[in-house]
Amino acid sequence: MKDTIKKLTEAYGPSGYEQQIRELIHTEINNLADEVTVNRLGSLIALRRSTGGDQASKVMLVAHMDEIGVMVTHIDEKGFMRFAPIGGVNPLTLTGGRVKFGDGTTGVIGVEKREDLSKAPTLAQLYIDVGAKNKATCPIKVGDAAGFTRPFEDLGGRLVAKTMDDRIGCAILIETMRQLKKSPHDIYFVFSVQEEMTLAGAQTAAYQIAPDIALAVDVTGVGDTPEAPKMATALGQGPAIKVKDAGMIAHRGVKELMIKRAEEKKIPYQLEVLLGGTTDAKVTQTTREGIPSGCLSIPCRYVHSPSEMVDYQDVLNSVKLLLAILAKPIEI
Ligand code: CO
Ligand code: ZN
Repeated sequence: MKDTIKKLTEAYGPSGYEQQIRELIHTEINNLADEVTVNRLGSLIALRRSTGGDQASKVMLVAHMDEIGVMVTHIDEKGFMRFAPIGGVNPLTLTGGRVKFGDGTTGVIGVEKREDLSKAPTLAQLYIDVGAKNKATCPIKVGDAAGFTRPFEDLGGRLVAKTMDDRIGCAILIETMRQLKKSPHDIYFVFSVQEEMTLAGAQTAAYQIAPDIALAVDVTGVGDTPEAPKMATALGQGPAIKVKDAGMIAHRGVKELMIKRAEEKKIPYQLEVLLGGTTDAKVTQTTREGIPSGCLSIPCRYVHSPSEMVDYQDVLNSVKLLLAILAKPIEI
């Protein structure tokens, strides 16, 4: 599974520019589904039909394939570029880093001279330098989007990459498809677009599929680093079952079902109350007349930095928990 995680996390795909990561995931899942389609907004949807049994439900599992990044807003005569954030980008994580555009062009993030060095630079004080001699020969145009670059690393059980949010969710969905032998349910594995901007991919896919239940698989924050905000989740303590975040209260039936299956299978789990941020489940919940929605969260350090860290056992246990949920009738 680590090979898949490396491939997925190193791929390019800021919100709205998911073509490369979509093609990569498409190749990975081609032989694992009964039907694979790309919908009109670009989300990739793989259907595994029920293998028979009573009480079949339509289940939607969703992980977003887009990543945070930057978009060029202005290029000066010397070829230096200013940029807007795509999703939640923290300037503290940027200086000295590099970005990559869709055509493979690499840029370095520089910072202008600042009068007050006691304050962190703002996004407006940063620029991208692709090594261009001037504007005329700069290969990048206003509106081009870039993602951050950083290699995947296995630190011995703890995995680090630029886009654990949410390629780790994508990898968990793929691994679940690999291990899933049979299920009474029609299962839609959705790799959504534009989560980091508007959640539009999950919202439209949920409308299209009209599932009985929807589960987002995404990262969440932790409280286990020095002077971290007080939060009960930690790396290595099992997948987190969402109770609440800034955008939703998880459907109680879905939450209870996840807890029940984890306890039956003796899979470690944590309960998640996240103060800031939300996931695709926010919008699946408010699609149509309301789709009971929840979230299986992977505890992650340094979310929205180029070095997001997860625990491999949490990843494996997330797959186990999904398989346990899909194996039995879903009563909520
Ligand atoms: Co995110
Ligand atoms: Zn995410």
